[in-house]
Amino acid sequence: MPRIEEDCRLIDLPKIRDSRGNLTFVEGGRHIPFDIRRAFWIYDVPGGEMRGRHAYRRNREIIIAVSGSFDVEVDNGNGATRYQLNRSYCGLYLPPLHWRSILNFSTNSLCLILASEKYDVTDYVRDYEEFCRIRGK
Ligand code: TYD
Repeated sequence: MPRIEEDCRLIDLPKIRDSRGNLTFVEGGRHIPFDIRRAFWIYDVPGGEMRGRHAYRRNREIIIAVSGSFDVEVDNGNGATRYQLNRSYCGLYLPPLHWRSILNFSTNSLCLILASEKYDVTDYVRDYEEFCRIRGK
Protein backbone atom coordinates (compact mmCIF):
# COMPACT_ATOMS: atom_id res chain seq x y z
CA MET A 1 0.00 0.00 0.00
CA PRO A 2 1.41 3.47 -0.85
CA ARG A 3 2.50 5.54 2.11
CA ILE A 4 -0.32 7.75 3.32
CA GLU A 5 0.97 11.16 4.24
CA GLU A 6 -0.43 13.98 6.28
CA ASP A 7 -3.94 15.38 5.97
CA CYS A 8 -4.96 17.92 3.40
CA ARG A 9 -4.70 21.51 4.55
CA LEU A 10 -5.08 25.12 3.44
CA ILE A 11 -1.84 26.98 2.78
CA ASP A 12 -1.61 30.78 2.77
CA LEU A 13 0.59 31.95 -0.08
CA PRO A 14 2.57 35.21 -0.10
CA LYS A 15 0.59 38.27 -1.11
CA ILE A 16 2.46 41.40 -2.17
CA ARG A 17 0.10 44.31 -2.09
CA ASP A 18 0.77 47.80 -3.41
CA SER A 19 -1.12 50.60 -5.09
CA ARG A 20 -0.87 48.83 -8.48
CA GLY A 21 -2.63 45.74 -7.24
CA ASN A 22 -1.77 42.39 -5.67
CA LEU A 23 0.80 39.77 -6.61
CA THR A 24 0.98 36.21 -5.32
CA PHE A 25 3.69 33.68 -6.08
CA VAL A 26 4.59 30.13 -5.21
CA GLU A 27 7.92 28.28 -5.24
CA GLY A 28 7.94 24.50 -5.16
CA GLY A 29 9.58 23.13 -2.02
CA ARG A 30 9.32 26.49 -0.27
CA HIS A 31 5.68 27.51 -0.01
CA ILE A 32 4.34 24.07 -0.83
CA PRO A 33 5.74 20.70 0.24
CA PHE A 34 6.77 19.36 -3.19
CA ASP A 35 8.58 20.31 -6.37
CA ILE A 36 6.18 21.35 -9.13
CA ARG A 37 6.37 19.09 -12.21
CA ARG A 38 3.08 20.09 -13.83
CA ALA A 39 0.47 22.82 -13.85
CA PHE A 40 -3.00 22.66 -15.36
CA TRP A 41 -6.10 24.74 -15.06
CA ILE A 42 -9.83 24.23 -15.34
CA TYR A 43 -12.05 26.97 -16.73
CA ASP A 44 -15.27 27.60 -18.67
CA VAL A 45 -17.03 24.99 -16.53
CA PRO A 46 -20.75 24.93 -17.35
CA GLY A 47 -23.08 25.59 -14.44
CA GLY A 48 -23.74 22.52 -12.30
CA GLU A 49 -20.81 20.49 -13.66
CA MET A 50 -18.41 18.63 -11.40
CA ARG A 51 -14.77 17.78 -12.05
CA GLY A 52 -12.47 15.22 -10.51
CA ARG A 53 -14.19 12.43 -8.61
CA HIS A 54 -10.98 10.47 -8.31
CA ALA A 55 -7.84 10.09 -6.21
CA TYR A 56 -4.18 9.77 -7.13
CA ARG A 57 -1.86 7.05 -5.90
CA ARG A 58 1.30 9.19 -5.82
CA ASN A 59 0.50 12.64 -7.15
CA ARG A 60 0.25 15.53 -4.69
CA GLU A 61 -1.37 18.78 -5.63
CA ILE A 62 -2.24 22.32 -4.67
CA ILE A 63 -5.59 23.67 -5.84
CA ILE A 64 -6.00 27.45 -6.11
CA ALA A 65 -9.05 29.52 -7.04
CA VAL A 66 -7.09 32.07 -9.08
CA SER A 67 -10.39 33.70 -10.05
CA GLY A 68 -13.96 33.22 -8.85
CA SER A 69 -14.88 30.43 -6.48
CA PHE A 70 -15.62 26.72 -6.27
CA ASP A 71 -15.83 23.99 -3.66
CA VAL A 72 -13.44 21.08 -3.21
CA GLU A 73 -14.86 18.06 -1.45
CA VAL A 74 -12.12 15.88 0.00
CA ASP A 75 -12.60 12.36 1.32
CA ASN A 76 -9.71 10.64 3.10
CA GLY A 77 -11.66 7.43 3.57
CA ASN A 78 -13.03 8.50 6.94
CA GLY A 79 -15.57 10.99 5.63
CA ALA A 80 -15.70 14.06 3.44
CA THR A 81 -14.79 17.68 4.18
CA ARG A 82 -15.83 20.52 1.90
CA TYR A 83 -13.60 23.56 1.34
CA GLN A 84 -14.83 26.69 -0.39
CA LEU A 85 -11.95 28.28 -2.29
CA ASN A 86 -12.33 31.92 -3.29
CA ARG A 87 -8.98 33.59 -2.53
CA SER A 88 -6.17 33.69 -5.09
CA TYR A 89 -3.57 33.64 -2.28
CA CYS A 90 -4.88 30.45 -0.68
CA GLY A 91 -4.02 26.92 -1.82
CA LEU A 92 -5.57 23.63 -0.77
CA TYR A 93 -2.85 20.99 -0.38
CA LEU A 94 -3.88 17.42 -1.15
CA PRO A 95 -1.57 14.49 -0.37
CA PRO A 96 -1.99 11.24 -2.32
CA LEU A 97 -4.98 8.99 -1.75
CA HIS A 98 -7.52 11.72 -1.12
CA TRP A 99 -10.71 11.31 -3.14
CA ARG A 100 -11.51 14.80 -4.43
CA SER A 101 -14.31 16.41 -6.35
CA ILE A 102 -14.47 20.03 -7.52
CA LEU A 103 -17.92 21.58 -7.87
CA ASN A 104 -20.05 24.73 -7.56
CA PHE A 105 -17.89 26.65 -10.00
CA SER A 106 -18.84 30.32 -10.19
CA THR A 107 -19.10 32.05 -13.56
CA ASN A 108 -15.64 32.75 -15.00
CA SER A 109 -13.88 30.84 -12.24
CA LEU A 110 -10.34 29.66 -12.87
CA CYS A 111 -9.03 26.62 -10.99
CA LEU A 112 -5.23 26.30 -11.06
CA ILE A 113 -3.69 22.98 -10.02
CA LEU A 114 0.02 22.54 -9.30
CA ALA A 115 1.05 18.91 -9.29
CA SER A 116 4.02 16.96 -7.99
CA GLU A 117 3.97 14.44 -10.87
CA LYS A 118 3.62 14.51 -14.62
CA TYR A 119 0.40 13.20 -16.09
CA ASP A 120 0.18 9.44 -15.67
CA VAL A 121 -3.08 7.70 -16.41
CA THR A 122 -2.08 4.75 -14.19
CA ASP A 123 -1.79 7.07 -11.16
CA TYR A 124 -5.57 7.67 -11.10
CA VAL A 125 -7.96 5.76 -8.84
CA ARG A 126 -11.33 6.35 -10.49
CA ASP A 127 -13.35 3.69 -8.72
CA TYR A 128 -14.52 4.71 -5.24
CA GLU A 129 -14.71 1.11 -4.01
CA GLU A 130 -11.12 0.54 -5.09
CA PHE A 131 -10.17 3.76 -3.28
CA CYS A 132 -11.78 2.44 -0.08
CA ARG A 133 -9.99 -0.90 -0.50
CA ILE A 134 -6.62 0.85 -0.92
CA ARG A 135 -7.43 2.91 2.17
CA GLY A 136 -8.22 -0.27 4.08
CA LYS A 137 -11.89 0.67 4.56
P1 TYD B 1 -9.07 14.52 -15.70
O1 TYD B 1 -7.89 14.53 -14.78
O2 TYD B 1 -9.88 13.25 -15.73
O3 TYD B 1 -10.03 15.75 -15.36
P2 TYD B 1 -10.96 16.04 -14.08
O4 TYD B 1 -10.39 15.23 -12.94
O5 TYD B 1 -10.86 17.50 -13.87
O6 TYD B 1 -12.35 15.64 -14.38
O7 TYD B 1 -8.56 14.89 -17.15
C1 TYD B 1 -9.45 15.11 -18.23
C2 TYD B 1 -8.74 14.73 -19.52
O8 TYD B 1 -7.55 15.51 -19.71
C3 TYD B 1 -8.28 13.27 -19.55
O9 TYD B 1 -8.55 12.76 -20.84
C4 TYD B 1 -6.79 13.32 -19.36
C5 TYD B 1 -6.40 14.69 -19.85
N1 TYD B 1 -5.29 15.28 -19.08
C6 TYD B 1 -4.02 15.29 -19.64
O10 TYD B 1 -3.79 14.82 -20.77
N2 TYD B 1 -2.99 15.83 -18.92
C7 TYD B 1 -3.17 16.35 -17.67
O11 TYD B 1 -2.20 16.83 -17.03
C8 TYD B 1 -4.50 16.30 -17.10
C9 TYD B 1 -4.77 16.84 -15.73
C10 TYD B 1 -5.52 15.76 -17.85
